[in-house]
Amino acid sequence: MSRVFSGIQPTGSTHLGNYLGAVRNWVDMQDSYDTIYCVVDLHALTVQQDPAELRASTLRVAQVLLAAGIDPDRATLFVQSHVHEHPELSWMLECNAAFGDLRRMTQFKDKSDQAESGSSGFVSAGLFTYPALMAADILLYDTDAVPVGDDQRQHLEFTRDVAERFNNRYGDTFVVPEAFIPPAGARIMDLQHPTNKMSKSADTDSGTILLLDDMKKIEKKIKRAVTDTDGEVRFDVAEKPGVSNLLSILGAVTDQDPTELASGFEQYGPLKAATAEAIIERIRPIQERFREFEADPAETERLLAIGAEKAQQKAAEVLARAKNNLGLLP
Ligand code: TRP
Repeated sequence: MSRVFSGIQPTGSTHLGNYLGAVRNWVDMQDSYDTIYCVVDLHALTVQQDPAELRASTLRVAQVLLAAGIDPDRATLFVQSHVHEHPELSWMLECNAAFGDLRRMTQFKDKSDQAESGSSGFVSAGLFTYPALMAADILLYDTDAVPVGDDQRQHLEFTRDVAERFNNRYGDTFVVPEAFIPPAGARIMDLQHPTNKMSKSADTDSGTILLLDDMKKIEKKIKRAVTDTDGEVRFDVAEKPGVSNLLSILGAVTDQDPTELASGFEQYGPLKAATAEAIIERIRPIQERFREFEADPAETERLLAIGAEKAQQKAAEVLARAKNNLGLLP
């Protein structure tokens, strides 16, 4: 069975875009792949975090994944910092990564520009070496395929390059993974700025539907979503980004085609009402399961400990291979 690995950051709150673009596919893939999913808390450290908040949100993201249907009996779900092989391999990969390649990463350029102009003006070295840690995440599990959004494609290319260079220099060590951009990868955009991706870091939360938003809030956010003034319901991302985003969301949560859906609506009001209702119907059971996990953190911790143990068995094997091939003493 092919192995799939993916990671999610524990910062901010999981939103509808994360769910429809990624998490939902992770759940589906459990049936046909050997799946490993990781809450990447070490990646979160590349920008300064409030320790209590980081601890809480790491647990919360794990609980959201469990509530959304990640099944610890079928998938391996764990927290990155519980498996020390990740930062260990990351160093060995950094030493086989080109400085110039890391400097070209567009995410580094964007994030370091943002950080530099931010209040602290601080750009951590970890922000720069971030892709090496991501490569370690992936390569430690002999991963065949990595489901990621478009924005992570360059990091995956980097992972492949480092793996190939390492294999060339030190002999066959790593499986070279493929990107796996899910077919139904609906692009969910910000409700207020529909040409931007829906994101955790948006300046206000009125454009982002959080998976744990209450039902009233979801209705309100959809009602206030930006549309346009021509009044026609049509799927046309270039000319009508706001309306098309609503159609994309409705299509994604009901598994229908947004262009076909458009013909069923004459006005924006009913489109918004149908979209809000469909989101709520999809999210409500996830929220109910989340409340159960939330009420029993020890159970989540137990499941994560089992996940870490399963992950580590594999990771230790691959790390030993890498160390041996590099010439580190056993
Ligand atoms: N960098 C990814 C993101 O920001 C998260 C991530 C970390 C990841 N390690 C990974 C994704 C390994 C896939 C595989 O979304």
